[in-house]
Amino acid sequence: MRVVIIGATGHIGTWLVPRLVRAGHEVVAVTRGARRPYHAAPEWQQVERVTLDRAAEESAGTFGRRIAALRGEAIIDLICFTLESASHLVDALRGRVRHFVHCGTLWVHGVPDVRPYDETAAREPFGDYGVRKAAVERYLMDEARGGFPATVLHPGHISGPGWAPINPAGHLDTRVFDTLAAGELLTLPDDGAATLQHVHADDVAQAFECAVRNPAAAIGEAFHVAAAEPVTLRAYAEAAAQWFGREARLAYLPWTQWRVTVSERDAALTWDHVRHSPCASIEKIRRVLGFAPRFSAVDAARDAVAALYPDRLQPSGA
Ligand SMILES: NC(=O)c1ccc[n+]([C@@H]2O[C@H](COP(=O)([O-])OP(=O)(O)OC[C@H]3O[C@@H](n4cnc5c(N)ncnc54)[C@H](OP(=O)(O)O)[C@@H]3O)[C@@H](O)[C@H]2O)c1
Repeated sequence: MRVVIIGATGHIGTWLVPRLVRAGHEVVAVTRGARRPYHAAPEWQQVERVTLDRAAEESAGTFGRRIAALRGEAIIDLICFTLESASHLVDALRGRVRHFVHCGTLWVHGVPDVRPYDETAAREPFGDYGVRKAAVERYLMDEARGGFPATVLHPGHISGPGWAPINPAGHLDTRVFDTLAAGELLTLPDDGAATLQHVHADDVAQAFECAVRNPAAAIGEAFHVAAAEPVTLRAYAEAAAQWFGREARLAYLPWTQWRVTVSERDAALTWDHVRHSPCASIEKIRRVLGFAPRFSAVDAARDAVAALYPDRLQPSGA
């Protein structure tokens, strides 16, 4: 199948493009040409590269037409963040594609009452990002009921070698890992029981590959894509210390006191993560599309940290 990937060289595309090539697809990778994949793979030599700037093309009203002209049978849209972007593209592709797969986020749910929650849980997002992504999902699922072949995949925190994962304090400052590696005291917000649900970028790529392989089952559906279980901040900190051969030394502060111990940016990121405390079920994507994640939440983060600290981690399972 000819598959066009919009936003093909980032966290997901780095793994997804080689996977689709290996599966025998003809892959067209659309980017601005500014970024390289996080790691090289020989499969990229078989990929058609298209350079265009979505924002500029959308402003000119030409983005949808440019994507339609690439004649993808399947289109994977990894970088759509607004209803306007989605509807502009769908208008250009209606009747012209066999499958359209959008990348959403677990944040569309907000904080469901029941844990774990599945894809039928209410969409009660908060924050601009989640609200906009939920609007895109609602629109695409409506379009699917009208015959447009849309699927939506909702990843957790995407982690992998080449970038910092969400750390056990719920933000991105890698000094948290330095602290744990040195056996120093790490202070967590509240009681450390908030949850994170990382997903390895290659597992996200696997989910997109599963969807492309099985359009009949995927069209008109939304799926969570995450590690099978979330992990608490506390358990993650304990595991991360062990990676460095240490026992975690942890302390706790109520949120209002904790937040002033870190930068405003880190506090905002942590707040976003602990407030959501995701606990999404992946049973639907396992059952319907045969998704089988290779990484737990902790192992996905570990793979990212191993690349940040070459030769510093204890062997897995030590
Ligand atoms: N990060 C997470 O933990 C997380 C969690 C849940 C869901 N998500 C979802 O994951 C998706 C992002 O995927 P990702 O993390 O793989 O993305 P990413 O790492 O940010 O990569 C973005 C890709 O899009 C290209 N790109 C960026 N701006 C562009 C533009 N204006 N025109 C054309 N290409 C452009 C980039 O290449 P160039 O710079 O060369 O253009 C790159 O290939 C989003 O839909 C997000 O909501 C992310």
